[in-house]
Amino acid sequence: MKGIILAGGTGSRLYPMTKVISKQLMPIYDKPMIYYSLAILMLAKVREILVITTAQDQNAFQDLLKDGSQWGIHIQYMVQMRPEGIAQALILGQDFIKNDSVALILGDNIFYGHSMSAILSQAASIADKGAVVFGYWVKDPEQYGVIKFNNEGDVVDIIEKPVNPPSSYAVTGLYFYDSTASEKSKQLKPSARGELEITDLNKLYLNQKKLFVHKLGRGVAWLDTGTPESLLKASNFIQVIEERQGLKIACLEEIAYKLNYISYAQFENLAVHYSKSSYGNYLCSLLKVNMNQ
Ligand code: DAU
Repeated sequence: MKGIILAGGTGSRLYPMTKVISKQLMPIYDKPMIYYSLAILMLAKVREILVITTAQDQNAFQDLLKDGSQWGIHIQYMVQMRPEGIAQALILGQDFIKNDSVALILGDNIFYGHSMSAILSQAASIADKGAVVFGYWVKDPEQYGVIKFNNEGDVVDIIEKPVNPPSSYAVTGLYFYDSTASEKSKQLKPSARGELEITDLNKLYLNQKKLFVHKLGRGVAWLDTGTPESLLKASNFIQVIEERQGLKIACLEEIAYKLNYISYAQFENLAVHYSKSSYGNYLCSLLKVNMNQ
């Protein structure tokens, strides 16, 4: 399975913060935002990853993430010239995806919670049968793609930013698709806002009875980072959990080591490199404990 992180867009809702820094490079407490979506792909056992950014931000992402080998993964980069829709990522990534299935995640989506690794593994294991999306109960569904269920609880429609939401279940920014996603995306027409809508792609799968919706329970947090307030709340959330447990969320070095993508010696080198920061102190502290406990 391949992975794509879509990290373009103008970030205009966060201006002036994002005037010269990409939104997905902004910090969420102690690490750049894109670490959280990269962690999700790594936990889904995806090792071939394409990061799509604006032209102006590409160098910064490359400086940060490099080719991924430090975490035992492969990262490639591509530019999206204009924010013409989330589904465009699958067209841009067609040569990268080839005949594989693909996990697409928005670079500003943060997931955290119980059994997340198992949920991801399960989604990845059925992705070659169609599409897997995640439904999450929110108080403001009108801001998202919203799932409509019939009385039997079957999914009958997905509506992008409905004025009258048919349920409280928003579709999150994490999608698993079979190898037909790029071709299907090419059939889409731009919406009224001029974008190739990911909701339209999901509806193509739904019409073919190949859309699987996994409801994430309330034990999982799906955090928004779209406004200054939600950005701060996401940072506060991560800080509270990390301080209470003394464990870090989306620590890529730790994930890579636990998945056996890197050796102890490689992990040690990374820990020493960051040792002046609290992030590095954490990595150094892991050197002294049995991480497989
Ligand atoms: O977050 C989940 C929601 O994402 C879904 O519930 C919606 O169905 C889906 O359409 C999308 O909602 P928005 O349209 O509000 O997403 P937004 O335009 O904010 O874009 C999401 C992120 O993707 C944002 O960080 C910018 C980036 N992006 C977006 C587009 C349209 C790109 O990199 N390129 C793009 O062309």
